[in-house]
Amino acid sequence: MANLGQKYLIKAKKIIPGGNQLLSKRSEIFLPNHWPNYFKKAKGCKITDLENKSYYDFAGMGVTACIVGYSDKDINSSVKKTIKLGSMTTLNSLDELKLAEEILNIHTWAGMAKFCKSGGEACMIAIRIARAYSKKQGIAFCGYHGWHDWYLAANLTNSKNLDKQLLKGLRTTGVSKTFKESIFPFNYNDIDSFEKIIKKYKKKIGIIIMEPRREQIPKKNFLGKIKKIAKKNNIILIFDEITSGFHENLGGIHLKYNVNPDIAIFGKAIANGYPISAIIGKKKIMNNSQKSFISSTMWTEGIGFSASLATIKKMKKYKIQKSLVRYGKIIKSGWQKIAKKNKVEIMIYGLDSIPCFKFSYKNKVALSTYFTQEMLKRGFLANTSLATSFAYNESIINKYLKSVDKVFGEISLILRDKKKLILDGPIKHTTFRRLT
Ligand SMILES: Cc1ncc(COP(=O)(O)O)c(C=O)c1O
Repeated sequence: MANLGQKYLIKAKKIIPGGNQLLSKRSEIFLPNHWPNYFKKAKGCKITDLENKSYYDFAGMGVTACIVGYSDKDINSSVKKTIKLGSMTTLNSLDELKLAEEILNIHTWAGMAKFCKSGGEACMIAIRIARAYSKKQGIAFCGYHGWHDWYLAANLTNSKNLDKQLLKGLRTTGVSKTFKESIFPFNYNDIDSFEKIIKKYKKKIGIIIMEPRREQIPKKNFLGKIKKIAKKNNIILIFDEITSGFHENLGGIHLKYNVNPDIAIFGKAIANGYPISAIIGKKKIMNNSQKSFISSTMWTEGIGFSASLATIKKMKKYKIQKSLVRYGKIIKSGWQKIAKKNKVEIMIYGLDSIPCFKFSYKNKVALSTYFTQEMLKRGFLANTSLATSFAYNESIINKYLKSVDKVFGEISLILRDKKKLILDGPIKHTTFRRLT
């Protein structure tokens, strides 16, 4: 029988295309027909669904945004104060200036900051600023950068151009054809693929946008080499740190790798899930944005600023990133030991604070669906990737790993034909698909 969340989802799909606004929160990518889908309340790292069942979140903590924990009392109290004083008026919020100072103090190479609400929007702003500055329009890119035309246009030239980045199967329906041949992909840690497109499209490319780190560790000074080539060719380098930023260290992960870009973008974690994103950059480039028109009412709204100031304050006070990395390392080594003990082959990868694993078998998607299904029965929202949170502790992680051990034990039997792989619903989706 369908759970309450799934019943509402059927209703939602009739009036909301796809049922919700974000691919990464769709039931179909976790556990089709059985994922709780909606929540009633969330606190720390626990979520309560519509049927009052509580789960520990080991499935991403709000799409990697809620690193401090859900409904954090200090951040909430700052937000509540802002609401009480008025979060939207004819005049500007002084918190905007305070937040710009705060983020620029962390990133001393940058001289100016702009703010908006979402990550994709921040990428669009960075691209516009870079185009306003550069004499060239073309973009070299690596990684995921949202839903806007400038990015999806990569698939206009070749429908598989985005497949080697984060999301496979993205379609270009509705994307302006005029962007064809304006954006070119290269692969992470593959400096040859980068040099090849820079050489081929030298006359066009004026911008590089990339995630400085996602699944792989940069090898052979990959980031340094990109920067050197960018500088030599007078190309603007943008680091998209919407996911990597503020997870492993206070600020962009580029600070850890000691390679500064011309522009960096942050979102998600900078306000523990409250809506705000930031674009910072060198003064001469950022100031050039005034030659363009980049402006929006809701970018001035005060909740995002106050939430971000409170989040950064808390990150500093409790050295939150240290905990995120430590918890991630415990989880990664736990997975490794459990997999070995149960003779289940997996590959572990990703940032320590955003650890991931893959089953090394042909039917890996079915196994991963089974993992999510059985972990859910044990009280965990779990996927083969997660984002650690300051709301975790050793005891919660131990409970999680004990359940992982049990489920891996069952998977081990399945792999050895001693148990049937029974799924209560369809296999999870791994690519973008239209939902009916
Ligand atoms: C690196 C990166 N860029 C851009 C985005 C898009 O951000 P948003 O979903 O807030 O629009 C994401 C989201 O996951 C991301 O990870």
